[in-house]
Amino acid sequence: MSAGVSAPTFVPLSSPEPGSSWVERWLAACGDLAELERTHPMTDAVIEEIDGRLIRVGDQWLADFASCNYLGFDLDPEIIGVVPEYLRRWGTHPSWSRLLGSPVLYEQIEERLTELLGCEDTLVLPTITLIHLSVIPVLAGNGTIFMDRRAHKTIYEGCQFAAGRGASIKRFCADDLDGLEQLLRTSRLNTRLICIDGVNSMTGNMPDLPALARLARTYDAILYVDDAHGFGVVGERAPDEPTPYGRRGNSIVRHFGESHDNVVLVSGFSKSYSSLAAFIACPTELKTLLKTAASPYLYSGPSPVASLATVLAGFDVNERRGDSIRTDLWHKTATVLDCLDRLGAHTPNRSGLPVIEVPLARHEEIADVGRFLFSHGIYVTLAAYPLVPKDEVGFRIQVTAANTEAELEQLVDVLGKLADRFDLQPARREEGAA
Ligand SMILES: Cc1ncc(COP(=O)(O)O)c(C=O)c1O
Repeated sequence: MSAGVSAPTFVPLSSPEPGSSWVERWLAACGDLAELERTHPMTDAVIEEIDGRLIRVGDQWLADFASCNYLGFDLDPEIIGVVPEYLRRWGTHPSWSRLLGSPVLYEQIEERLTELLGCEDTLVLPTITLIHLSVIPVLAGNGTIFMDRRAHKTIYEGCQFAAGRGASIKRFCADDLDGLEQLLRTSRLNTRLICIDGVNSMTGNMPDLPALARLARTYDAILYVDDAHGFGVVGERAPDEPTPYGRRGNSIVRHFGESHDNVVLVSGFSKSYSSLAAFIACPTELKTLLKTAASPYLYSGPSPVASLATVLAGFDVNERRGDSIRTDLWHKTATVLDCLDRLGAHTPNRSGLPVIEVPLARHEEIADVGRFLFSHGIYVTLAAYPLVPKDEVGFRIQVTAANTEAELEQLVDVLGKLADRFDLQPARREEGAA
């Protein structure tokens, strides 16, 4: 999909044609998506210029609702302002792998992150994708992985890697924890790893983390959570919290008041913190093991200095202004959810978090809907088949604190016009504005 936008959950391909190779099956299943990529202005777009959260694609200026920079740190003058001094002191890029030479900036980030998350230790690596590919196989060994069917594509790939090294994979549905318990009960003999998304990258909802953590502890499993979209947005609950997001943005584990026992939390800085780096929160013993057992620490190039600098500056801003930024984000998100509610349109978002999927009544209309939004100056993520099942094809709106009130008014106006012209899925009975 378009640059800077996270890939939605991928729906595994089913019913392979006998005799065809996986590449042929893949290309056949991705036909609609390939056509969209080739012809649609909202996919694979070259962004030539930005002005705040406005972007220019060709001659067209659009309000960007596809960015994951939820806190607006990418545009924050205080954060931008620290970068030149770091570049002066450290150059643009360390170039050593971390095992070879790790600038002290990493130590500083890990110390502050460990304090923020309230966990035993943290390890910073370049991306979540690299963490999944390298850490899931280490944690799973030749045991069993219980993978949420709707987990992010990068978790799928980490699990496939693990399968190549002897792990077996069982899928479960995050809505059916009895089913998961049944699976856990029947495979008690070896290592067990439960892999799930935290804040889901399409629905914006959170799993029942306390119940999953309880199951992990009962069955001596590790709960491996990818909270790419939650870190920076959701955090610990407090009686005086200004929004239901909680305080401090210290991720889904703290949001539910859970301990990190039997839980391995993975997240990144590339969304809320607008920086190229990621982390794993885990016991020190595991961190030590991963330094040699997980390839990115040994072999991968490091994050650029500018990103290490913006993470550190992001911690300062988060501490001083984070809760008021999240309050603003919450209000802005509510504006969009209220609009969908008024239009009688369905969104799976029940959390009030800034990831809002709008499914279409007719999946065949995705390209036309995308063109309509584009021509009305709204940029979103198109969720086409097979990235999502056909009955979920639609678009995803992401709200950031840096979107202006004028951009939100424009979005609300265009959504109204869109609903006059195309059929959105109708709201379900239990829905109301979050
Ligand atoms: C849930 C989830 N996990 C992982 C990733 C990949 O993160 P990274 O870019 O750090 O590899 C994304 C990115 O979009 C995501 O949404």
